Amino acid sequence: MRRREFVVGALSTGALVTTLPAASATPFAADALSGAVPYGAAIRIDELADILYSEAVRTYCKVIVAEGAMKWSDLQAVRGSFTFEPTDTLLAFAQDNDIELRGHTLAWYAALPEWAERISSAEEARTELVHHIDTVVGRYKGRIRSWDVVNEAIAEDPTPDAPYRDSVWLRHLGPDYIELALRTASEADSSAQLVLNDYEFEQPTDQARAKRKAFLDMVRGLKSRNVPLHAIGLQGHLRGESAVDSPGISSFVAELSALGLGILVTELDVIDDQLPGPIEERDKLIAARAREFLSAIGSVVRPEIVVTWGVSDQHTWVPIWFSRQDGLPNRPLPLDENYQPKELMRVIQDFTQSFA
Ligand code: XIL
Repeated sequence: MRRREFVVGALSTGALVTTLPAASATPFAADALSGAVPYGAAIRIDELADILYSEAVRTYCKVIVAEGAMKWSDLQAVRGSFTFEPTDTLLAFAQDNDIELRGHTLAWYAALPEWAERISSAEEARTELVHHIDTVVGRYKGRIRSWDVVNEAIAEDPTPDAPYRDSVWLRHLGPDYIELALRTASEADSSAQLVLNDYEFEQPTDQARAKRKAFLDMVRGLKSRNVPLHAIGLQGHLRGESAVDSPGISSFVAELSALGLGILVTELDVIDDQLPGPIEERDKLIAARAREFLSAIGSVVRPEIVVTWGVSDQHTWVPIWFSRQDGLPNRPLPLDENYQPKELMRVIQDFTQSFA
């Protein structure tokens, strides 16, 4: 039914007719899969005006997150003046379509407006961090259930002496900013799910091992101080060329869930700049890499959601950092540039449905 609407919608625009219908993976039959893990994607709000884009989101997603609109630089470009319209639009789209909107993100080293980068004292940092979180979480209380409270708190290359990533928050408040952010979010909405989100845990490297250790140390510390924290977001920006450390990820997830934390896959995509060019070969490798990652998690826990960082190869952040030397477009996401499902979509479907 939904698939039909998707195809009809596409045809009525007169666009891409020759590419439809050619689904190798059908959309999720939402009603038949009430036990399945919800799938979703990061959304570019402006693209919702494109019928192919919005129909793809409606067809496949049960959960969405703003790719950019809810970061500091968008929400509070001018100090003290909040811009909520895009988020409100996205929330209305979500509610109209029975989709859950997640919040991303309340404390991050990046996507800060210039004024916030210039914060110059601990007192100022504390005041602004609390004000922002209190205002944003308070506004969406009861409407946004799950928040990436702190994003990427762990250093790129953590050492025992320097486990945390540099940021205006860390510089002025030390690692206590993490606790402050979580406590403030909890006060603003005591029923919100509070998440720490981070990346690059899955690589078979010393760096990833050190990241997992630093992250677990941080989480144990927070838990021992009774800081409100409910779940962990594994971003999952996988490197196509690099094997997943399956035992490493499985035991990491097991330790986190033993601490009573839920596990979310929040930003899955497969970075394909180092993979061979031919599409069929590349798509297979991409799908296999995602399967490895999801299986390593799923063998231990049932993740609460699987979210990809975008829905179609037409709109992906990957080329910003990982464009291919041969000039071919990246293909990191479950739908291709014409919104046709790829093998990666099949992997996600199989995975999410395996819990139904
Ligand atoms: C990225 C967006 O996709 C880009 O469009 C933007 O320019 C920079 O941020 N980890 C995260 C996301 O948590 O917020 C990032 O999103 C990608 C990496």
